[in-house]
Amino acid sequence: MILQRPKKRVSYLNTAIGFPEFGRGGWVTGLILLFYVVFYIFLAGLFALTMYVMLQTLDEHKPTWQDRLSTPGMVIRPKADETFEIVYNIQNTESWDMYTQTLDKFLAPYNDSTQAQKNDECTPDQYFLQEDSGDVKNNPKRSCQFNRTMLEECSGIHDRYYGYQTGKPCIIIKLNRVIGLLPGKDGQTPYVTCAAKKEDSDKIGELMYFPPNGTFNLMYYPYYGKKAQVNYSQPLVAVKFLNITVNQDVNIECRINANNIVTGSERDKFAGRVSFKLRINTI
Ligand SMILES: *[C@@H]1O[C@H](CO)[C@@H](O)[C@H](O)[C@H]1NC(C)=O
Ligand SMILES: *[C@@H]1O[C@H](CO)[C@@H](O)[C@H](O)[C@H]1NC(C)=O
Ligand SMILES: *[C@@H]1O[C@H](CO)[C@@H](O)[C@H](O)[C@H]1NC(C)=O
Ligand SMILES: *[C@@H]1O[C@H](CO)[C@@H](O)[C@H](O)[C@H]1NC(C)=O
Ligand SMILES: *[C@@H]1O[C@H](CO)[C@@H](O)[C@H](O)[C@H]1NC(C)=O
Repeated sequence: MILQRPKKRVSYLNTAIGFPEFGRGGWVTGLILLFYVVFYIFLAGLFALTMYVMLQTLDEHKPTWQDRLSTPGMVIRPKADETFEIVYNIQNTESWDMYTQTLDKFLAPYNDSTQAQKNDECTPDQYFLQEDSGDVKNNPKRSCQFNRTMLEECSGIHDRYYGYQTGKPCIIIKLNRVIGLLPGKDGQTPYVTCAAKKEDSDKIGELMYFPPNGTFNLMYYPYYGKKAQVNYSQPLVAVKFLNITVNQDVNIECRINANNIVTGSERDKFAGRVSFKLRINTI
């Protein structure tokens, strides 16, 4: 078949619009249009098919791809802003009020009554494994109780201001969730330690950790993901600053200690540790 180009652009356009009265030019345009329509339908179909097959292979309960070496980040509460500074004046209630309110809100889901309702009392010091057996999903998975009262003096129950009004503030630390993470090899419980940066080491004073020794009990691991483990409560560690130097900046770093978690690696400086500035003013 010999396809003849229309002689003039204008007439070409005309035939495209006036299809099919204008003979051969119209036919060609029609064929081209048809070709593209079929072609695009085919592409759309291919795309839909590929997506469908891909989605079939996904498990909604756990990610297909995950960095196996990922080290969890650590965060502190209260987090006032992006600067990780906790600065307040003891005499000025308004300057620390927002911190205690943040903690109230953050700890509300950890109320003993809520935890008793949602979660199980697990056997401490061992992983709470709830593996699937082959294709049979062991869902939903249960989670372990982390009671607010386990934070004792930092629970906000007996001292509703978490020590802020007496210059002995509490900071709460949690480890970001990593699906499947089993921290601590050979039954060694991971724990948190906080220390001042070198130049401030004489200002930090004595610390107290809750639960004792600042541990994250093994029974809270592994985490199976939001969909599989709906009521999961991340374990917490509270640190109380008993005798921190006032009216001076104190730079503090807290880190997780576990024999299988590398903190502050080359790849991720913030892995497993968190730094912040604490300054309590009295004047
Ligand atoms: C949790 O407990 C605190 C202190 O006992 C109480 O003020 C708060 O209303 C409780 N919150 C919830 C959601 O039960
Ligand atoms: C948490 O508190 C509830 C209610 O007081 C209690 O029954 C439960 O034993 C506590 N769980 C743990 C792990 O301490
Ligand atoms: C989650 O908590 C609700 C109560 O808030 C409870 O009825 C449910 O059984 C819990 N689910 C799991 C899987 O623990
Ligand atoms: C805290 O650590 C000390 C020393 O490592 C140990 O003797 C003590 O039993 C630990 N306490 C708890 C409650 O784990
Ligand atoms: C608190 O720290 C100061 C130095 O910053 C020290 O002189 C004092 O003895 C400490 N008090 C207690 C009870 O540890």
